[in-house]
Amino acid sequence: MILDLEKLEANKCYSIMSNSIFPRPIAWIVTENSGVINVAPFSYFAPLTSKPAVAVVSIGKKESGEPKDTLANILDTKKATICIPNSSHADFISKSATSLSKDSSEIEEFNIPTKRVNPDFPPIIEGVHAAYFATFRDSYEIEGSPTLPIFLNLLSVYFDDLIINENLKVDMKALGRVGAFFITEGERIKA
Ligand SMILES: Cc1cc2nc3c(=O)[nH]c(=O)nc-3n(C[C@H](O)[C@H](O)[C@H](O)COP(=O)(O)O)c2cc1C
Repeated sequence: MILDLEKLEANKCYSIMSNSIFPRPIAWIVTENSGVINVAPFSYFAPLTSKPAVAVVSIGKKESGEPKDTLANILDTKKATICIPNSSHADFISKSATSLSKDSSEIEEFNIPTKRVNPDFPPIIEGVHAAYFATFRDSYEIEGSPTLPIFLNLLSVYFDDLIINENLKVDMKALGRVGAFFITEGERIKA
């Protein structure tokens, strides 16, 4: 079967792509604007280049048509903390995907614990093993799409000392998104 993506409805295209381009990493993005801390997960997320370190995340609109709070905050403050979650965070990730008004904080609404490890950026979520501190670089409108890919400069990265050694070798257990599910790492297959 060959499916013509140009002819399929948007929700079908999403279902096809999110169940076959996988597993996708989850950018659990914390932003802060006018004292309100916002957190939400995004899986249309990918690293693009390592030097300079740049990643892309595609963020859509709320049902009301306004940009999602994460997008509005990044465009406004130019800053984001991208947490890389692990399986212990699955419940909080799902809760933080609830659409709240811009002046409400998912952190407060769902009691998600945070920790400030970099005074110049929004806090990390407690228990994440890695988090990137990023600034807005650019965006690229895709004609016809309500979703805006934004490019982020990854300036520095926090690691929990437990998962990195003195040679900077990182050993983290992956958590990914497949369709509507999360998957965590099982067997490693030799490359
Ligand atoms: C695992 C997961 C991945 C998601 N990925 C995306 C994504 O890539 N782009 C997007 O616009 N929304 C995505 N969402 C939905 C947003 O998290 C959701 O709309 C959230 O309410 C946005 O919050 P905000 O308005 O505080 O930014 C995802 C949700 C989940 C649970």
